[in-house]
Amino acid sequence: MKKLIVANWKLNPLRETDAIRLARVSDRDHTVICPPFVFLESVGKTLRRAKLGAQDAFWKESGPYTGEASPVQLKRLGVSYALIGHSSRRTELRETDAMINKKIRAALRAGLKVILCVGEPWNVRRKGLPAAKSFVRTQLQKDLAGIRTAKPTARNLIVAYEPIWAIGTGRADAPHDTIEISKFIKNLLAARYSLRAAKVLYGGSMTSRNAKSFVQYKEIDGALVGGASLKAEEIRTIISIATQQNGNR
Ligand code: 13P
Repeated sequence: MKKLIVANWKLNPLRETDAIRLARVSDRDHTVICPPFVFLESVGKTLRRAKLGAQDAFWKESGPYTGEASPVQLKRLGVSYALIGHSSRRTELRETDAMINKKIRAALRAGLKVILCVGEPWNVRRKGLPAAKSFVRTQLQKDLAGIRTAKPTARNLIVAYEPIWAIGTGRADAPHDTIEISKFIKNLLAARYSLRAAKVLYGGSMTSRNAKSFVQYKEIDGALVGGASLKAEEIRTIISIATQQNGNR
């Protein structure tokens, strides 16, 4: 399976010229760029090889919903992927699993590919991997409840495992633990949703230095990169490490 690198710029950069410059250096095959909403159009026009991703998508197509972005509008703008359920939205904006479930359905209906973000906080992980698995299983069960009607497939539903304690802390997960959780997620998706061969990405303090230690394994299908995706040299190196893995299989 080809490795996928997803760049989540979060609320960066401040200027459009910087966004375009960053888009140019990240514009490679098997890469998804998720700029802030305000730069989707200009970054979309810049990209030739990478796909465009949104950092969120609302659950309604249109209507009286101030400040939201409709999945249908996003699709028409040229967006291919949507991050749903990122931990910063779950924690800072109190986004619930029920809201995430509605967003996934609406995004799939609109023809977007969903990158569903899951992951446990440190107070869970410190109890060990079984506790982390149980936390992630509950998130997936709630987020994907009744989802079959939205016709998820291994091509349009990707899971990003992002342990919250690893995000932006410089403290990435241990790759062997990520492999175990990734296998657990893949088995769950296959057993409950008949999603065989769905991609599972890793996210959390990935850098050019640790990227290979994750993406070299067949169980880890790529990465969701935050901070390092804002530095030209870092993201270029991470993409090329992932591309080398693609060449090896
Ligand atoms: P960092 O790579 O900055 O830890 O962020 C990860 C993340 O949240 C990507 O969605």
